[in-house]
Amino acid sequence: MSNDTVEIRIPGHSPLSLPMLSGTLGPKVIDVSSVNQYDVFTYDPGFQSTAACSSGITFIDGEKGILLHRGYPIAELAEHADYLEVCYLLLNGELPNQAQKESFVYEIQHHTLVHEQLSNFFNGFPRHSHPMAIMCGVVGALSAFYHDSLEIKNPEHRKLAALRLVAKMPTIAAMAYKYSIGQPFAYPKNSLSYTENFLHMMFSVPTESDNVNPVLVRAMDRIFTLHADHEQNASTSTVRLAGSSGANPFACISAGIAALWGPAHGGANEAVLNMLNEIGDVSRIDMYLARAKDKNDPFRLMGFGHRVYKNFDPRAKVMRQTCYEVMEALQIQEDPLFKLALKLEEIALQDPYFIEKKLYPNVDFYSGIILKAIGIPINMFTVIFAIARTVGWISHWSEMLSGKDLKIGRPRQLYTGPNQRDFVPIEKRR
Ligand code: SDX
Repeated sequence: MSNDTVEIRIPGHSPLSLPMLSGTLGPKVIDVSSVNQYDVFTYDPGFQSTAACSSGITFIDGEKGILLHRGYPIAELAEHADYLEVCYLLLNGELPNQAQKESFVYEIQHHTLVHEQLSNFFNGFPRHSHPMAIMCGVVGALSAFYHDSLEIKNPEHRKLAALRLVAKMPTIAAMAYKYSIGQPFAYPKNSLSYTENFLHMMFSVPTESDNVNPVLVRAMDRIFTLHADHEQNASTSTVRLAGSSGANPFACISAGIAALWGPAHGGANEAVLNMLNEIGDVSRIDMYLARAKDKNDPFRLMGFGHRVYKNFDPRAKVMRQTCYEVMEALQIQEDPLFKLALKLEEIALQDPYFIEKKLYPNVDFYSGIILKAIGIPINMFTVIFAIARTVGWISHWSEMLSGKDLKIGRPRQLYTGPNQRDFVPIEKRR
């Protein structure tokens, strides 16, 4: 904590002394919660200067390009841990020892099946539905099946809901993909690792024995790790706000999936591939950079820029390295999209506009190229992000609910509408 204070002077009132709070790392915060006693509100659309909560899960330093999960740098986790270890870390606060890891893996594996009736939901969707629409619907519907884990103040219920969501997201995602291509659903196999199981459910067919390329499993697992959590981003803040009303965890995660879908957020990985396909050739890069800089053109360079990172997104560095490894392992170094992305990054990083505005590649810039190499269709890219981020969402949800002073999130506003006026009967309206 801190003994520092900030004094503000509101016209007509005596000076107000506001406490400054310190965390473990990062900027101090000014506690403005007492300001409303003076009938004024703070104003911060987009929350660019607002800490909405305290949290011990993830720390980001945007200027230095630092990302820590429970204190561990993302590059070390991506290099040395697998995704389920990172899930355990985010949920429990510590990396698991061997016994804890084996028990956690067993628990996750024994929650991967979904209720058979859940498959009936898919038939209500047109085959060409965007899989994120299906994910919003089917994940939200899970609350109809799990009445035994909805007492959100009960830590055991929260733990069970977290296990079920982390375990079932890959199963539901793979079902959404299989449904879209008219192939039968593939059941999860407990003999496979979490990520191997996902690729098995995505690509296996009953008529063939399937063996998943271990290089692709490692790359997919690393992509899951790189997307696992990211502090109070838009979708995590959505999950926290939904959870603050007491909504059940499945409905909260469905709300997070909906928020992630936007192209400014998790939908960017799909948008990057579509953009690279539209640019098509190195010779057209300058034209698109000009469009990205043109204030009258809504086009933005997808996969570039970030609300917090004003330096390289540390995840993008690991993602680029993983890209090289996958391209080399698959002997597709000459992949035109990969070469185009490298050239686009090189040119953009030298461009004065991008330098001045501190626009660097973010986590989404390279992930799509790896996902395409793994064989994931473009419209499934954000679904992959949702699978990975579920553990972050549910960790923040659980952290919030285990806190002492849980209040429903209820922001105020600056009202700019009409003054009070009298009702006009319809016959007297012009
Ligand atoms: C994710 O919050 C998180 O942590 C998110 C995430 C996570 O893990 O949860 O990291 C995942 O969402 C990564 C971001 C993916 N989105 C994209 O790649 C879409 C393209 N990027 C932009 O839309 C934008 O950079 C945002 C939305 C990511 C950030 O926007 P901000 O912080 O609101 O910044 P801004 O829009 O105010 O931009 C600042 C300036 C503006 O110019 P000016 O009005 O100051 O003249 O930079 C410009 C913008 O026009 N700018 C861009 C740009 N991004 C910002 N110009 C061209 N291309 C871009 N990509």
